[in-house]
Amino acid sequence: MEICFSTTNNGKFSEAQKILNKYGINITQAPLPLEEKRSESVEEIAEGCALRAYSILRKPLFVEDSGLFVPALNGFPGAYSAWVLKKLGNEGVLRLLEGKNREAEFRCAIAFTEGKEVRLFTGSVGGRVSESIRGNGGFGYDPVFIPEGEEKTFAEEPSLKDSLSHRARALQKFGESLSKR
Ligand code: IMP
Repeated sequence: MEICFSTTNNGKFSEAQKILNKYGINITQAPLPLEEKRSESVEEIAEGCALRAYSILRKPLFVEDSGLFVPALNGFPGAYSAWVLKKLGNEGVLRLLEGKNREAEFRCAIAFTEGKEVRLFTGSVGGRVSESIRGNGGFGYDPVFIPEGEEKTFAEEPSLKDSLSHRARALQKFGESLSKR
């Protein structure tokens, strides 16, 4: 089976490729610059992007939206994760968290469509924001996120992402569902 992953993020694409290949699913990348709907929910954003991508590509596809949610900041940066990273960087996020509870959660929503309905698959991983920027692997917030039960950041140990990241968990549900058809 071959489906299209609409994303401009090569890191997301290679993570998805590795996991979905295990389910016998080949993916191709369509780097469409999709405008995201303004919403607090990764599910709603992914659903809107899937429909927009389908209106352009007209073939089975999925999109993915994710974000880092920090309870001590009332869920911020959440849906603003990409913007915050661009404007403040990981240094800025560490500054925002000085003296605060560093618990955090990554959330991911995958939206799959073949044109009619949109099916959603979600995943999350709890953890904490590190005290400093550590590691060179991965992308985005990986150098400042330590998943629950671990000591290293995702950027120091990118293989952790294959088994327990928010995206891996959503991709596993997606892969299982597609392989049952
Ligand atoms: P979006 O889903 O592309 O809008 O991503 C939101 C922001 O979260 C971007 O800045 C990503 O780099 C970041 N992000 C998404 N997934 C991950 C991840 O697995 N690790 C680290 N940062 C991530």
